[in-house]
Amino acid sequence: MPIPTGLTERLGVAHPIIQAPMAGGGDSPALVAAVSEAGGIGVFGAAYLAPPQITEAAKSIREKTPRPFGLNLFSPLPAPVPPRAFAPAIARLAPYYTELGLPPPAAPAPPTYSFDDQLAAVLDSGAAMFSFTFAPVPSEVVAAARARGMLVAGTATTVEEALAIEKLGVDAVVAQGSEAGGHRGSFAQPFEASMIGTMALVPQIVDAVRVPVIASGGIMDGRGIAAAFALGASAVQMGTAFLTCEEAGVSDAYKEKILTSREHETRITRAFSGRPARGIVNRVMIEVGDEVPGFPLQNALTRPMRTAAGKAGRTEYLSLWAGQGLRLARRQKAGELVARLVAEVRVTIDRIGG
Ligand SMILES: Cc1cc2nc3c(=O)[nH]c(=O)nc-3n(C[C@H](O)[C@H](O)[C@H](O)COP(=O)(O)O)c2cc1C
Repeated sequence: MPIPTGLTERLGVAHPIIQAPMAGGGDSPALVAAVSEAGGIGVFGAAYLAPPQITEAAKSIREKTPRPFGLNLFSPLPAPVPPRAFAPAIARLAPYYTELGLPPPAAPAPPTYSFDDQLAAVLDSGAAMFSFTFAPVPSEVVAAARARGMLVAGTATTVEEALAIEKLGVDAVVAQGSEAGGHRGSFAQPFEASMIGTMALVPQIVDAVRVPVIASGGIMDGRGIAAAFALGASAVQMGTAFLTCEEAGVSDAYKEKILTSREHETRITRAFSGRPARGIVNRVMIEVGDEVPGFPLQNALTRPMRTAAGKAGRTEYLSLWAGQGLRLARRQKAGELVARLVAEVRVTIDRIGG
């Protein structure tokens, strides 16, 4: 039985369950399509992809399902201040490259495409939803996506950010609580001042904005979804819960790490990308620390290490993005997870009502 909200009606989906975009290989066209097929909406993280790759991913999703799906980008950011020389950052990472049998890391080359190029591919993709994180996008971007019939959502980690995102003319705000796995979407304040738990953040944003709110961060099962609805959310966006699904793009070693880690074993780090993100603590996170070049420079410096480690199943070198709800992660197919979540929401609501 569907769980209708204003957002599900607008998107034409049965359930207000959004599979979070997980750029960098956490998601996959197969995962996105499976979630959409099951009546939720899968969102593909396209932030690290060149425009032709975005087109290809959208085509691959469309081949697997006729249902609505979404695409997500990182908002354009001011160019990071380059470290005067990359030498110290390279020297810090070099031993890991040696251990993995890789040539030493090299200073990153400038990108060959812009946000506008990526956006053009998104606008032509046939996606039903476009979401963004890291900062407000220009309001023309929102207008362009809405003109294509897309539902547009932007990420906020405080009420102040939610108001700034709403001002752009979006259809919904994603309220990202501090429990969330992956990068923080914070932009108005330093991230340390914006670590508001989902339970506190969602109702305060719901009270402040007029558009629907999508709750995100630490939501892993039907109890979490029912709680988000109780706080006034119109949908949930779940990342970690979908990362251990069969169709997710990460290695088996990464999935196993999520399934065997506990709630106190994640931390916010800059070590892998230069931007604060929550992941499972491992050797590289501890040893490299937070004094690194800014995003996306450090991200580019660590990419070959992360790619090789992913292939070799060596989790000590991987950015193991995950939220605090780890113990609730389950290994299953994404369609089974969506069906289970819907059933759990009903049981939870009945239990409270009864
Ligand atoms: C592996 C991973 C990658 C992520 N990549 C993105 C991304 O590309 N874009 C985005 O808006 N959010 C991204 N997020 C954050 C999610 O949108 C969401 O806020 C988070 O997953 C919610 O917390 P949870 O993991 O506890 O469910 C990512 C999260 C994870 C775990």
